[in-house]
Order: sequence, then C-alpha cells, then structure tokens
Amino acid sequence: MGQTMIEKNCSLKAFNSFSIDARAHLLFHFKQHSQLPELLTLIKQMQSEKKPILVLGGGSNTLFCEDFSGLVIKVELMGVDKSEDPENYLLTVAAGEDWPQLVEDTVQQGIYGLENLALIPGVVGAAPVQNIGAYGIELKDVCTRVDYIDLIDEELKSLSNEDCLFAYRDSIFKGELKDRVLITSVELKLPKQWQPHCRYGLLQSIHETEETVSAQQIFNSVCRIRSEKLPDPSVLGNAGSFFKNPIVSEHLGGQLLSHHADMPLYPQADGTAKLAAGWLIDQCGLKGKQIGGAAVHKDQALVLINTGNATSQDIIDLAWFVREQVLQKFAVLLEHEVRFIDAQGETTLQQVMKDV
Ligand code: EPU
Repeated sequence: MGQTMIEKNCSLKAFNSFSIDARAHLLFHFKQHSQLPELLTLIKQMQSEKKPILVLGGGSNTLFCEDFSGLVIKVELMGVDKSEDPENYLLTVAAGEDWPQLVEDTVQQGIYGLENLALIPGVVGAAPVQNIGAYGIELKDVCTRVDYIDLIDEELKSLSNEDCLFAYRDSIFKGELKDRVLITSVELKLPKQWQPHCRYGLLQSIHETEETVSAQQIFNSVCRIRSEKLPDPSVLGNAGSFFKNPIVSEHLGGQLLSHHADMPLYPQADGTAKLAAGWLIDQCGLKGKQIGGAAVHKDQALVLINTGNATSQDIIDLAWFVREQVLQKFAVLLEHEVRFIDAQGETTLQQVMKDV
C-alpha cells in the first residue's frame, strides 16, 4: 500500500471532540480490511510488551486524561451496503462512517427510521457501544447485527441485537467484551412501513399529531432543537452529555419529587425512576460555572465545554465539582457517560481523583 498507516508520538487533538492535546505512543489508521494482518501483528507486539490498546472512533465521547502509552487504533473503515426485502431496508454500514451523515443520507434517500438520531456526533462503530439514543429512539431499536474483530482470539465475529445486551447507554461492549473488540460494521433494519416517533418532550410540542408528520419534518425539528441547545464541538470542544441521567429507587425519586414538584422524573418499567442530570446540575446553579478553561455550558447544564484552552485536568476538576454539588444537594451520584482514558486505558473519574 506504500503509505504508512502508523504514526508515532501522535497528537490526538484532532481526534477527540474536547480538543485535548494528548498524545498516543502509536496510532494506526485502520482504513481497509487488507491491513488486518499488519494490525494483528502490531496488536501482538503491544500485548507482549504489556502496552494498552485503545479502539477509537470519532472521539466524540472520550476524555484523554493523559498521554496514551500504547496503541490507538483509529477506525476509518468506510462503505454502506444497501439491500432490501419486501418489508425492510437493510443497511450494513462500515464502522468509520460518520453517524450524522448516515442519518442525513438515509432520510434524503427516503429510507426512514433514523431521523430522531440526527446530529449525534460520532462514527457508526461507536453507536452500539453506548447504545446512542435521543428523542425516544435508541440504536437498539434499529440495529440487527454488530460485526467485530475479537482482538484476543483474532477472529471475525457477529452479535445479534439480543446478544448485544443493549440497555440505557450500555451494551456488552462496555461490559464482558470491553477492551477486546474492534467493531467493523453495524447492520440496521429500517421497515418500509415507517412509524413516526414524536412523543418525546420538545418533539411532541412541535408535532402534536403523528398522523401527518413526515420523517423529513422530524429530522428538521431534531436538528433545530439540538443546534439550539447543544454546542457544536468544532466551535466549542465538548462530548455531548457528560453524565448519564441517573436511575434512582422509587423511594428516592418520590422523596425528591415531594420537595421539588417541577423535577423531571421518568418512571421506568421496573419501578425505578430516571432523573434528568441536566436539571439537577442546573438546580445547583452551575450553568456557566468555570474551572480553568472548562465550563458548564450556559444553555444545557449536562454538557461540559472546553472554552478554548482547557486541560484535561480542568475538565476533571469541573466534573468532580459538579458531581459533589449534586451529591450534596440531592443525594444522587452522577455517573459519567464520557469515557475517561488515562495512560493505561479506560478509567473513571473516581479513580483519577484518587490518583492525584
Ligand atoms: N434541563 C434543565 N436544565 C438543563 C438541562 C436540562 O432544566 O440545563 C431539563 C430539561 O428542561 C428537561 C430535562 O432536564 O426537562 C431533560 O433535558 P433534555 O430533554 O435536554 O435531555 P437530557 O436528558 O439532558 C438526553 C440525552 C441526550 C439526548 C436528549 C434528547 C442522556 C445522558 N442524554 O439529554 O443525549 O440528545 O436526551 O433525547 O441520556 C448524549 O448522550 O450525548 C446526548 C446529547
């Protein structure tokens, strides 16, 4: 192939939406399957040297806390394969394809079902990992298969929707298969008999009736709502929702509601209650709160931003401050949705704070 796909001591600034200037010891651009033997050799070498391996998609949900001491595999596999049966469109989408572009393209081609998930930054391969979701739809509702390379036994494998163990911002790729999977493609099944979903929050107030609304209209509304509330990462570094919406016991949910009648609370099927982390942070008066170059976004408290020259430590300190304030005021512990990566691989906010 001539051109080398491996970079040494490479800046990751362009590869994470927080624009943190961390470095990777090695970075491999994985563009086509023919590179697989070369990649597997490199992986073996890393394993024998006990160096960590990180699979990176669009970097839109990642906080690099330190320089990464091992191999970063940047997944850049491209291509969309379309087929259909009498009832459905089937799309097999390579992991490096841009998710928001895919949504836009499908809507334009008259293939509907992804419109609620418009403008979610990131690549297709990352979508199943955290089961991306917005406005009443999650990836699990449209994904039928995930293809991946098992980095331990070096085999190509597939998982069905059920096997992926999708849950709220969660899947098997964050659990049992964490750190051993490189997702290569995702299959999506989109019924030709399209059903609109606009019962969620703001969408409902815009489209009161599901009878006449079109997929293009939902797409336009979602794009408008998101652009109004969420900062564009290419202008202000951020990683979308920084924390997950916490799920608390029915008892705590009820108790909080009795003190804060206007608190958003989404009852879950199992009796627990999902709260809005953005609301909790907002109630602590933290919109606009700044530590160093990191700030809580002024319009959506669930988003932490890099105001220009934030270090990862600024973001970590701010995240910790937010977590402590919410804990003190509401006795609710926020878990971060953003992946924290230190020199050795994935870590947590608690761990990073313990280490300093
Ligand atoms: N709220 C406030 N103040 C704020 C932010 C939110 O009072 O600063 C209130 C809102 O008024 C609303 C509630 O909190 O009553 C929930 O807010 P919103 O509808 O904006 O959604 P969210 O819970 O903050 C979730 C997802 C988003 C997704 C939206 C729309 C998570 C962690 N976040 O946000 O996903 O786009 O719903 O479906 O589940 C992401 O994961 O990166 C992401 C952006």
